[in-house]
Amino acid sequence: MDSKERAGNWAAAQVADGMAVGLGTGSTASWFVKALARRIREEKLTLTLASSSYSTSQMALELGMRLIPLEHVTRLDVYADGADEFDPQRRLIKGRGAAMVQEKHLVHLSDRFLVLVDPSKRVERLGTNFPVPVEVLPFAVGLVKKELEALGAVVSLRPAGTSKDGPVVSDQGNLVLDARFDAAGDVAGLDPVLNDIPGVVGHGLFTRYADRVTVAVGHDERVEVIG
Ligand code: 5RP
Repeated sequence: MDSKERAGNWAAAQVADGMAVGLGTGSTASWFVKALARRIREEKLTLTLASSSYSTSQMALELGMRLIPLEHVTRLDVYADGADEFDPQRRLIKGRGAAMVQEKHLVHLSDRFLVLVDPSKRVERLGTNFPVPVEVLPFAVGLVKKELEALGAVVSLRPAGTSKDGPVVSDQGNLVLDARFDAAGDVAGLDPVLNDIPGVVGHGLFTRYADRVTVAVGHDERVEVIG
């Protein structure tokens, strides 16, 4: 079993009948969604489920899960999702899948946040391997790019790749700037600073939620649980 699958299965085992559960986005979270769908089917669990992206909603619906819309979510018992990096204080960079705004919304409403990762996601300092993704209102891209550069970042507009000409468009219809900061600086400390830039809808630094975070690191033979 691959380490992401192991972490996803571990998280699905944390869910109890009657819970309200948030479904994250990405390759690791998808193992959680699959394992949870299996438990719902086999154990006849009754759960309230909310999804963090079109991509996860699509998958969940195909697996027979029924979802409530985000605007109906007032509280979750548990939210499970992947991350791009986690540091020793259980602070995160998320958003390679460009779903960080909905993801943060669900984390904010959750009692427990299960962060599902493989060992490559562990860093001493945030910003070591990944840029900080920043979701931006389309008309504000120029302004936000300048502000991020003034904070020392190397900034690029995330391209859609082969599926579309031009930039990635988020589930909310916004654009994504990837801001690569020097990890030797205080990248985690930029969380409130980025929120203050006009035109920023949200970003991938998750530094305020360590109190509710449990990190599950999948290894070849076991899951290491931190927090
Ligand atoms: C999506 C995310 C993902 O959870 C994060 O990028 C990790 O993805 P993966 O499990 O595929 O490595 O934040 O917006």
